[in-house]
Amino acid sequence: MDDHDDARGGLAGPPDPTGLTGPTGDLPGHDVIDLTRHGAEFVDDPYPVYARLRERGPVHRVVTESGEMWLVVGHDEARTVLADPRLSKDWRILDGSTEEAGPVSANMLESDPPRHTRLRRLVAREFTPRRVETLRPRVRRITGDLLDAMLPAGEADLIESFAVPLPLTVICELLGVPTLDRASFSGWTRAILGETGDFAAEAAAGEAMRDYLVELIEDKRCSRPRDDLLSALIRTRYEDGDRLSADELVSMAFLLLVAGHETTVNLIANGVLALLRHPAQLTALRADPDTLMPGAIEEMLRYDGPVERATYRITRAPYPIGGVTVPAGEIVAVVLAAAGRDPGRHAAPDTFDIRRPPQSQLAFGHGIHFCLGAPLARMEGAIALTELLARAPGLALASVPAPLRWRPNPLMRGLHRLPVTF
Ligand code: HEM
Repeated sequence: MDDHDDARGGLAGPPDPTGLTGPTGDLPGHDVIDLTRHGAEFVDDPYPVYARLRERGPVHRVVTESGEMWLVVGHDEARTVLADPRLSKDWRILDGSTEEAGPVSANMLESDPPRHTRLRRLVAREFTPRRVETLRPRVRRITGDLLDAMLPAGEADLIESFAVPLPLTVICELLGVPTLDRASFSGWTRAILGETGDFAAEAAAGEAMRDYLVELIEDKRCSRPRDDLLSALIRTRYEDGDRLSADELVSMAFLLLVAGHETTVNLIANGVLALLRHPAQLTALRADPDTLMPGAIEEMLRYDGPVERATYRITRAPYPIGGVTVPAGEIVAVVLAAAGRDPGRHAAPDTFDIRRPPQSQLAFGHGIHFCLGAPLARMEGAIALTELLARAPGLALASVPAPLRWRPNPLMRGLHRLPVTF
């Protein structure tokens, strides 16, 4: 028995030869799979473990670093769960509390209808493909400026110099957020996304982010009206107050800032890494980006997408899915990364192939919480990749002694660093 088992009072039982399961005492008939025992290896490459899980069934009860939950690893079951109103985003189901959501979680992604519907409607028109298209020249310009600054050095951490500042600048401009202190901003979001595993740090980061946004909103409210999304939302709040509470306004800004950049960073970096590891595909894409880029972006999203697991859902009542019944009041995590590699949905799923025939997949989620920013993310990704490949013909992974490491984030899939040379 290892340290993890001791810490949980032997919940996962003795390790089995496959390294996946152990019987549980409190829920007969359901094995509990201890994912914590896979450690850093699982963080760096979770796909083999997900594949073994999928072979055994589409839904499993597991122990993760974030606690006990049910993982959905089959594509069809993932799609069902994401669109099923019988699952809720309301954490109060878990502890029976009646408290309102806190100031950073009163947002659409953490709400059920009717609040979800109301909040999403307030901003949906800003993110339609048509509206996003008007941002194209500006995204190209920002991309060009970043490449001008990065390429002459001959080498860089592509994440720090390119993949982070591009989407962060775009979403900040869209919202009307002045130059942010990027280092603390990234630190906050990573702590809030549960990456540090430290609840005190998570709470402190939430507070810091909230204070920053409250001050920013107050500044904007008192200054000359501007033509940006946050100013429009502030007007909604103060001229038509019952449509958006103060907490909802802060939460909306928070969600758009975090969702609008953390994910796109990983699309760019994971996508570049996949191409560098598949040189023939890189050559083909470079030769004909106009034809191949849209499909390449979809393949990057499927093969090693930015969001490993969707945000958690809670069962309101016993919930039958994929041959098991999840009891009421339990957490369900849909593993988008596993759904994207389901051989029942995608032929040869572990092969990276930018010419794959188009087929819908779940990298942007599904159902009412389907990614609001998908058109923007696709556009940013395509521009970033097209310009980078055109202007850095010698792009290659830098030969550094340490292997590439992935961040231990329970929801996102992204590298710490991506050292490259040009
Ligand atoms: C490649 C980049 C992106 C990926 C892979 C991605 C992925 C996702 C996924 C999987 C969800 C659903 C989560 C769930 O159901 O638990 C989601 C929701 C959301 N995303 Fe994205 N996202 C990306 C970029 C963006 C951008 C650029 C924005 C900018 C505004 C954005 C805003 C949102 C919002 C607001 C939601 C919540 C929607 C709702 O609850 O109705 N995302 N995203």
